[in-house]
Amino acid sequence: MADEQNAYVILEQNDFERARLNSQFWYCHKHINLDRFIHDERLSLPSDAVVLESGAGTGIWSMELAKLMPSSVTFNVIDISTKLFPSTSIVPANVHFSQTSILSLPTEWSSRFDLASQKLLSPALTRHQWRLAVSEFYRVIKPGGHIQLMEFIWSEWTLSKGPANDRFKSVFRELYQKHDLVANVATELPELLKEVGFSDIMVESRSAPVGVGLGPEGEKGMRVFKNVLTSLKPAVLKLGIVSSEKQYDDIFHSIDEDWRNGLGGEFTMLCAIYAQKPVE
Ligand SMILES: C[S@@+](CC[C@H](N)C(=O)[O-])C[C@H]1O[C@@H](n2cnc3c(N)ncnc32)[C@H](O)[C@@H]1O
Repeated sequence: MADEQNAYVILEQNDFERARLNSQFWYCHKHINLDRFIHDERLSLPSDAVVLESGAGTGIWSMELAKLMPSSVTFNVIDISTKLFPSTSIVPANVHFSQTSILSLPTEWSSRFDLASQKLLSPALTRHQWRLAVSEFYRVIKPGGHIQLMEFIWSEWTLSKGPANDRFKSVFRELYQKHDLVANVATELPELLKEVGFSDIMVESRSAPVGVGLGPEGEKGMRVFKNVLTSLKPAVLKLGIVSSEKQYDDIFHSIDEDWRNGLGGEFTMLCAIYAQKPVE
C-alpha cells in the first residue's frame, strides 16, 4: 500500500534531478506550452498580480517568468521539499520560496492569487490527493483568477513504436496503480475542476518528438525521456516491479535501440489544462 502522505515516485532529489527538471522544463515549454508561460492566451496579468507556483521543484517556471514581469508582481513558490530550490542569492525579492504542500496551504492565502500554476504532479498525487489539491487551489485563487496545470498522462505512455514500449508501459502501469496515481489526468482533472466550481475549463493535449531522425528536438526528447526513466528506476526497484536492476536496464537499452532504429515518433503524453474561478 502506498504511503498516502507522499506517493511521489521519484525518490531522489539531487543534482541529477535538478538538471533533469530544468532541461525537461524547456522541452515541455516548447512542445506542450508553445513557448508560453501562461497557457491561456487571453490572460494577461495585472502589474500587482500575485502568482502561486506549486510543486515547483527548482522553481524554474517562476524564476523565468519573473524576469519577464515587473517586480511589482509577487510569486509564492512552494514544494514539499526544499532540496531543489535555487540558492537565495539568485532569487529576486518578489519571489518567495517556501516548504509547503499543495494539500494544506496557509489559511491566510484564501482568495490571494490571480494565477496558480502547477506542472507534473501526476507522479506525486493520488486520486484522493488531487481532489484535495484542486479544492485548495480553488480556495486560494481570487474570484476571477486562473489555474493552469501541465501534466503527464500515465495511460498514454508511448516512447517508441517498437517492442520495448509495451515492456515499459506495463512496468509503469504497475507503478502508478500501486501508488493510486491518476492514470488519465486529461479526463479526470477537468471533472474535479468542475466539481469544485472552476469554469471555462480547457484541455490541450500536444505531441512532442522523441527519437533519431526527428531533428535536434527528437534527440532532446530522447535525453529527456532517458532521464525520466533513470529517475523512476529506484521506485520500480523498491516495489519489486522488475526482478532485478539488470532487467530494468535491459528494457532501457532496448528502448534506446528502438529510437536509433527509427521507431521513435511524435507522441502525445502530456497536456495543458486551464480554467477560471468564476467572479462571484
Ligand atoms: C516532477 S517534479 C516537477 C517539478 C516542477 N513542477 C517542474 O515541472 O519542473 C514534482 C515536484 O512536486 C513536488 N511535490 C510532491 N508532492 C507535493 C505536494 N503535496 N505539494 C507540493 N509539492 C509536491 C516534489 O517534491 C517535486 O519537486
